[in-house]
Amino acid sequence: MDAIEFIQAGCSLHAVHFLITAGPTREAIDPVRYLSNRSSGRMGFALAAAAAAAGHSVALITGPVSLETPQGVVRVDVTSAQEMYEAVKDGLPAADAAIFSAAVADYRPAHPAEQKIKKSEATLMLTLERTPDILGSVRAVFGWKGFLVGFAAETEDLLGHAREKLVRKGCDLLVANDVSGPGIGFDALENEVTLLFRDGTERALPRMSKEELAAVIIDEVSCKSPGR
Ligand code: PMT
Repeated sequence: MDAIEFIQAGCSLHAVHFLITAGPTREAIDPVRYLSNRSSGRMGFALAAAAAAAGHSVALITGPVSLETPQGVVRVDVTSAQEMYEAVKDGLPAADAAIFSAAVADYRPAHPAEQKIKKSEATLMLTLERTPDILGSVRAVFGWKGFLVGFAAETEDLLGHAREKLVRKGCDLLVANDVSGPGIGFDALENEVTLLFRDGTERALPRMSKEELAAVIIDEVSCKSPGR
């Protein structure tokens, strides 16, 4: 089935101000090394491009990626989870809808070294500490009331974990993203997801390009978000 059939026409008549997160974060081990993941930023940039193309305004907060900024999008570059947290906190008051597609590191080195670590011992222990849970702070800490979209990237029990995240993080929509197979998910051109809504509705989508999926998500959000 073609992705275009999922798009509900006629809803995007009002402008929505989107805040979108994209890409990986990097957590410093020392001045030249970091912990990160394989996110390319493609999903978040496709969402930003689709929103801007539909006439909405977009602030795109992105970790380090090698992608061009889509036309009409205001881009904020960050490196670490802490920097992304601060940028989201600053950007949320102006936003009607927020989509968290970034792959934020859950842990960071507790004591990054000030100088490059020398190789001396046969093994090296790194103590990790939790990074701020940005999505989890949106309702609980920032008290933001706009339309909230989270992603859940899972390799097993996709829907079980995603349903739990939808409720725990106070999302209106949770994009349950199967990242277990080749060719989908991190650093791939396609995603295969199920959309879970707060009212319990679930919509399984076929595997499709990130650009097609972005159009579906932006259409859903702009239909359901009050905008201004
Ligand atoms: O960048 P690409 O190569 O195109 O890949 C796209 C993607 C696979 C990264 C994207 O489609 C995706 O699934 N993003 C979510 C990745 C993820 O880290 O999911 P999670 O289940 O660990 O996190 C759950 C949610 O909490 C996500 O919305 C995440 O942005 C957010 N989060 C996570 C940790 C944290 N400290 N703060 C957060 O806000």
